[in-house]
Amino acid sequence: MRKRIAVLKGDGIGPEIVGEALKVLEAVAVAYGHHFAYQDLDIGGCAIDKTGVPLPRETIDGCLAADSTLLGAVGGPKWDSVPGDRRPEKGLLGIRSAMGLFANLRPAKLFPQLAAASPLRADIVARGIDFLVVRELIGGVYFGEHKTETINSERVATDVMPYAEHEIERILRVGFETAKKRRSRMTVVDKANVLDTSRLWRAVAARMAAEYPDVALNYLYVDNASMQLVRDPAQFDVIVTENMFGDILSDEASMITGSIGMIPSASLGAGTRGLYEPIHGSAPDIAGKDLANPVGTILSAAMMLKYSFGLTKESEAIEAAVNSVLEQGLRTGDMMSEGCTLVGCRAMGDAICAAIG
Ligand code: IPM
Ligand code: MG
Repeated sequence: MRKRIAVLKGDGIGPEIVGEALKVLEAVAVAYGHHFAYQDLDIGGCAIDKTGVPLPRETIDGCLAADSTLLGAVGGPKWDSVPGDRRPEKGLLGIRSAMGLFANLRPAKLFPQLAAASPLRADIVARGIDFLVVRELIGGVYFGEHKTETINSERVATDVMPYAEHEIERILRVGFETAKKRRSRMTVVDKANVLDTSRLWRAVAARMAAEYPDVALNYLYVDNASMQLVRDPAQFDVIVTENMFGDILSDEASMITGSIGMIPSASLGAGTRGLYEPIHGSAPDIAGKDLANPVGTILSAAMMLKYSFGLTKESEAIEAAVNSVLEQGLRTGDMMSEGCTLVGCRAMGDAICAAIG
C-alpha cells in the first residue's frame, strides 16, 4: 500500500515524539511491505515564527491533499502574549475545522503493566479501565463567538456555545455505532440542568435511541461524570460529549490509566482521512531533553493505520510492540514506577521499533 501522510510536528516536544512515531511507521512499512511518503508542514508557534500565522494556507492544502495527517502538539510560553485569534492553538482548531473532523476518539485503556502508575486505588483499578471518549471537535464554545468589549468602563468577555441539531446528531451517531462494536453502553455527558445546548443533546439522543435498541443509553451531568471517573471508571464503555467537556474529561480519563503521555486520539469526519495526535500538550518544560513519552503519538499512528488505511494487522502490531516494551519494564519518566527501567524518548521509540521488526 502507498499512502501520503502530512506531518505536523508543531512545538515543544512535538518534533521528538513525532520523530519516534515516524520511525515506528517506517518499521511497519518495512515489515509489511508498504510505502509511506511524508510531507512536513508547519502549524502552531513554529508556523507563527516562520509565516506570522499559526495555520498557513499551505498546511491546510497539504493536509487536504494527503491521505492522513499525524500531529505532535502546539503552543508554548513563547507565544502566550500573541493575540487570541492567532495563538498556536488556533492553528490546531483551524486544521480540525478545515478538515471537517467533528469526531475525536480518545481511548482510555489501562495497560495492566501500568496499574501501579494510576493514581487510583488498586481495588478500583483492578475492576478494569477500558472506555472511549467520543468528543465533538468542531462545534460548541470553541467555535462560537468570542469577544471582549468595554461596557460601563469595565471589560466584559463573552464566549458563545452554539450547537445545531445536525452537529449533535452526527457525533451521537459515531457514539452509538462505536458502542455497538464495543460493550453496547453509551453515556451522554452534559449539563442539562443548566444549559440549553445540553437539553438539545438529550432530546436528539432520545430520538436516536429508537434506532439503537441494543445500546444501553444513559445520561450524566458533567460534574457527576468527572466524579464517577475516579470513583468507578469500570462503569463506562463509550462516553459522548460536547467539545469542552470532552477536552476536560479526556485529560482526567488519561491520568487514571497511568499517564496522559500514553493516550492517542483519532479525529475523523465524513471520509477516511483523519488527523491523529496524542491528547497531551507540547510540554515546553521538557522539550528537547529526550524525556517525553512518545507512546501516545506512536499509538496515534497505529490508529491512523486502522481507521484511515484499514491496516488492522499493522495497527495491532504496533499495539503489541508497545505492550511488549512495557512488559520488558521500560518506562519514560511520566509513567515510571519501582523496579522498572527509566528510558528516554528515543530509546522508547527504538525499543518499540525493535519489537515490531
Ligand atoms: C486537546 C488540547 C487542545 C484542545 C488545545 C491545545 C487547543 O487541549 O487537544 O485536548 O483543547 O482541544
Ligand atoms: Mg486537551
